[in-house]
Amino acid sequence: MKANGLLRSFGLLIAAGAVTLSACSREQWHRAPSPDDVIAAVPWFAVMKRSIAVAPYRNVAPRPPVPGTVPVDGSEPPLPITRDNLPRIDRLVNPVQRTSESIERGRDRYQIYCQVCHGPEGHGDGPVVPKFFPPPDLTAQQARSYTDGYIYTIIRHGRGIMPAYGDKIRGEDRWHLVNYIRVLQGASR
Ligand code: HEC
Repeated sequence: MKANGLLRSFGLLIAAGAVTLSACSREQWHRAPSPDDVIAAVPWFAVMKRSIAVAPYRNVAPRPPVPGTVPVDGSEPPLPITRDNLPRIDRLVNPVQRTSESIERGRDRYQIYCQVCHGPEGHGDGPVVPKFFPPPDLTAQQARSYTDGYIYTIIRHGRGIMPAYGDKIRGEDRWHLVNYIRVLQGASR
């Protein structure tokens, strides 16, 4: 639409509004469109009304925290999976006993964060799989051979194309997850 046309249609709208409103009882006044809606009906004037919304899933999911974010429960020095870190990772000791409470908590976290890719029983057949790279079977020999510390670290820092979940799954919850994965592995022996 040219600016002239725009101005004309805007003028018409205002005029129509004025006519309607002048012939209104108090009741009708409240039912009349607000000037804000009338003005926003003209695309040219709607820029303030139709603002640019935040699109949280546009770039990456899960969304990582802003660099430098410090967790409220304190931070733990990073220990990502690298060749040099492997001995330290494998020496991490699981401080959480595999009690039924721990397994329950692990199952709960698993269903929220992991099942979507790794599948309900860990076989790498979650609902995203037809569209996403198939994740490894967590009950296969490979994952069975990992130390608890290594699985804990994959959860915390991610590995390859598996995203890091350390900012979402914190502290003991990572060990509860390790305990639950051991149960999945035992179940499919
Ligand atoms: C977005 C999909 C996705 C999600 C969600 C996900 N993973 Fe993964 N996971 C992968 C992929 C892909 C790999 C293979 C990464 C690689 O090649 O290094 C993987 C690898 C792993 C491995 C190593 C398996 C092996 O045999 O080497 C473990 C253990 C694991 N994930 C556990 C988890 C846990 C626990 C969660 C939940 C906190 C989780 N994953 C969430 C995709 C995912």
